Amino acid sequence: MKEVELRTVIQECQMEELSAEEQHLIELAIEATGRSYAPYSQFCVGAAVRLENGVEVIGCNQENAAYPSGLCAERTALFSAGAQYPDIPVTMLAIAARGTDGVLTEEPTGPCGSCRQVIIESETRAKHPIRILLYGRRCTYVIDGIMALMPLTFSEF
Ligand code: THU
Repeated sequence: MKEVELRTVIQECQMEELSAEEQHLIELAIEATGRSYAPYSQFCVGAAVRLENGVEVIGCNQENAAYPSGLCAERTALFSAGAQYPDIPVTMLAIAARGTDGVLTEEPTGPCGSCRQVIIESETRAKHPIRILLYGRRCTYVIDGIMALMPLTFSEF
């Protein structure tokens, strides 16, 4: 038997270390937390995607009394971008969240497994990696492509 090591390297950045475009996308994700509909969890997530043509599209979590009918912020943003600009690759995705206390989270918030699967599809579809920015007050994690967050992906059959 052979051991296989799966290694992930991400960057931990302060705001001033990010480009103006990256900072702006994070600001949009933070703003989007204010539009979240989260009466059940009170956990307000915002997402913003930047497309290759420079267009930015936001999303936020949309909950529902029938819990599984709701949708995460990341998928709201990605599906909206897919609906409006089906042929334009997504190049960047920023995520921010406010906890139940209404304050932006100290630590970066990562996408759930289902959102990671949807991010894979966006990358595969456009043949373009997505730079992922996970905002927290302490730092922002910068991840170059979903493969770092979802190794051994299921993307083709
Ligand atoms: N949520 C997101 O919007 N994105 C994620 O990746 C994780 C969770 C939302 C779903 C639900 O409305 C709330 O956060 C609590 O789970």
